[in-house]
Amino acid sequence: MVVLGIETTCDETAAALVERPAEGPGKILSNIVLSQIVEHAAFGGVVPEIAARAHVERLDMIIAEAMAEAGVAFSAIDGVAAAAGPGLIGGVIVGLTTAKAIALVQEKPLVAVNHLEAHALTARLTDGTPFPYCLFLASGGHTQIVAVLGVGNYVRLGTTVDDAIGEAFDKTAKLLGLGYPGGPLVEREALSGNPARFALPRPMMGRPHADFSLSGLKTALRLEAERVAPLSDEDVRDLCASFQQSVVDVVADRLRAGLKMFRDRFGKPTALVAAGGVAANEAIRKVLHRVAFEGGTALVVPPPILCTDNGAMIAWAGAERLALGLTDTLASVPHARWLLSDVKGPPKTATAPAGTPPPETFRKVVEAAKTPQVPEIEEPEPQ
Ligand code: KG4
Ligand code: ZN
Repeated sequence: MVVLGIETTCDETAAALVERPAEGPGKILSNIVLSQIVEHAAFGGVVPEIAARAHVERLDMIIAEAMAEAGVAFSAIDGVAAAAGPGLIGGVIVGLTTAKAIALVQEKPLVAVNHLEAHALTARLTDGTPFPYCLFLASGGHTQIVAVLGVGNYVRLGTTVDDAIGEAFDKTAKLLGLGYPGGPLVEREALSGNPARFALPRPMMGRPHADFSLSGLKTALRLEAERVAPLSDEDVRDLCASFQQSVVDVVADRLRAGLKMFRDRFGKPTALVAAGGVAANEAIRKVLHRVAFEGGTALVVPPPILCTDNGAMIAWAGAERLALGLTDTLASVPHARWLLSDVKGPPKTATAPAGTPPPETFRKVVEAAKTPQVPEIEEPEPQ
């Protein structure tokens, strides 16, 4: 099964072709990611309108490039998947509408993929990790520990009560004048800094639940930076190293609590899996190894290019859903918000049909196209 995946929920315009065999990991035939960093850098963060326009301008070209690199014709794909949220609504509309157009013209099944589900299933694309596993999802907008029990079957064990980890990295970078996106820049500075120089807090450490809190850490960092200002290069490096060390300690502690909750409720996980842009951080990857080892479970961390937003993860999630007959109509709606726990899976009694999706999928796509409906578009999140 070969699926085209389209990702436009934030500031990456991405398309990929992925092949899903009947069993085991997938094969990435192409994976084109165009970052919009240049467009947003001057503003110190993603500007939703600029992002949406940039997606409109580039997406056709990116899809054409992905098709060409894979050497696959539209007529040969088995389905088209797009991230239908959660994300910046303008970008989501661009990706989903483009996927609908391809599905309609090529008479292919459409899969409207939840972006978080795509991050959650990436370990199956790279490593064929069997269910159930414990997911640590840490990106710019989300920080969650999730029990991944099956496609469309997710139980959230912990989340952040305020900022996401990626957001904390981004805000730290902004505060220290490092630029955008912050994660990789803070990591680079931290490499040669002293992590013990500033005594920053470790919020939520030792609590029995698996929730995170990052805003107190951010405030403590700001106060320390103000205290030693004007900042020398060494101060910046030490602040970054101290901040990153605090995050690393918190991640280790929260994951230990999350793994315990997982075992108590669902038994032993097949693996601890990391996903989302923050999982590209080497110091965090290192501590994940330790936590998994202590917990007696395997660790699966996709390569950095598949941790940050990409089209391959959308294509793979689309293929997983397609293989279960989970397709969507042209009336499917873009979402600014869409909880992982609200993603629908197969009916509990259904067994997975192997291979191509049922023929009614094609009829549904064409029928839906004949009766145009104005989709109800959600209000965008306040920016
Ligand atoms: O998953 P992702 O590409 O996009 C979202 O869905 O948010 O994650 C982007 C986030 C940004 O906040 C970025 O600063 C963070 O991941 N990030 C990192 C690193 N690389 C990306 N954070 C820490 N260290 C990194 N090396
Ligand atoms: Zn993401």
